[in-house]
Amino acid sequence: MARALRVVQVGCGGRAQSHLAAMQASGVVDIVAICDLDDKKLQETANKFGIAARYTDMTAAIREHTPELVDIVTPAHIRLGIVQSAIAAGAAAVLIEKPMALTAVESDALVALGQERLIAVNTQYRWMPHWQKVWKLLRSQKLGTVRTIRASTGVNLWEQGPHVLDLAMYAAELSGWGQPEWVLAQCVGEEFFGSTAVPADTSAVVGYGDNRMWINAGSSAPPVPQESVIWYQQQIEITGDRGRIWVSLNQGWTLWLDGKRTQGVTGWPADDEIAQQALFVDIRQALRRRGTGWQSFATSVESAAVRQRVMDTCARAAREGRRMPV
Ligand SMILES: NC(=O)c1ccc[n+]([C@@H]2O[C@H](COP(=O)([O-])OP(=O)(O)OC[C@H]3O[C@@H](n4cnc5c(N)ncnc54)[C@H](O)[C@@H]3O)[C@@H](O)[C@H]2O)c1
Repeated sequence: MARALRVVQVGCGGRAQSHLAAMQASGVVDIVAICDLDDKKLQETANKFGIAARYTDMTAAIREHTPELVDIVTPAHIRLGIVQSAIAAGAAAVLIEKPMALTAVESDALVALGQERLIAVNTQYRWMPHWQKVWKLLRSQKLGTVRTIRASTGVNLWEQGPHVLDLAMYAAELSGWGQPEWVLAQCVGEEFFGSTAVPADTSAVVGYGDNRMWINAGSSAPPVPQESVIWYQQQIEITGDRGRIWVSLNQGWTLWLDGKRTQGVTGWPADDEIAQQALFVDIRQALRRRGTGWQSFATSVESAAVRQRVMDTCARAAREGRRMPV
């Protein structure tokens, strides 16, 4: 095997367990050190994954191990501060969890930091096997001209919107839609990340020329048939003039094409495990490319910020009660 990517892991909470398992299963990563402010979680996780170098201070871990990538899996409301500290300590590249930011100011700051190094966002669904098939389908233009994309999640837009919007907006890009132009939205209620409030429910339409993307996040989301877990209430539908595909996170997908209906399975966590490993393989490749090859990484903060801007515009359009430019 070619030389493994040297990674410092920051955070030993729930999601970090999936990152660590995926890094080890990928065979392309060497986890050189691990840290968490909480010593109990740190020791338990380090024991579970057999990692010797353990820190409660991320800065010391980065300075002593000079990793090629710092994988930061911490809550959203402290995201920017940790990335700034990691970079100040010498982080050469950073992977962060979603949402990349809670405000436009934080998002802009991360994009600025991402000009000189890879900062990637962990919207790993793109790498799920069924989504790889959808990207192929869209590239081959088998659905014909796509004019409508619907995306929904049962929880608030900042919580799961980064995933469903990443998928819907990538589908729009592959369908030749260009950039989102405007948003008209209605938001209801509030939920909190730390002390930052975000809309609890968002119902929006995004204009891309003559094409439309429909977004529901929260209680207005249409239920996924047979799904009882709120986190799995995620579905995307892409409609062209020759065919249509519907994809759920955990209840399969259906393709209607040329008068035929085809179906397949989707399932969490199996698809997540495959996707998370594939993302680490691609990050390693991007960082090993000569020069500035990393700049085109699929989920760089630059591309994630466009998704984030749509989310922010939903909140602004709802507040102002009018259509707003993205
Ligand atoms: N991509 C996905 O599919 C997916 C799935 C679940 C969660 N997430 C995201 O992952 C992020 C983390 O979620 P979680 O459930 O693991 O949270 P968590 O609260 O379980 O874990 C976060 C950990 O970070 C540690 N931490 C905080 N500040 C630190 C610092 N300065 N240095 C070292 N450690 C620090 C905390 O002590 C805690 O152990 C969230 O943004 C969440 O939305 C993503």
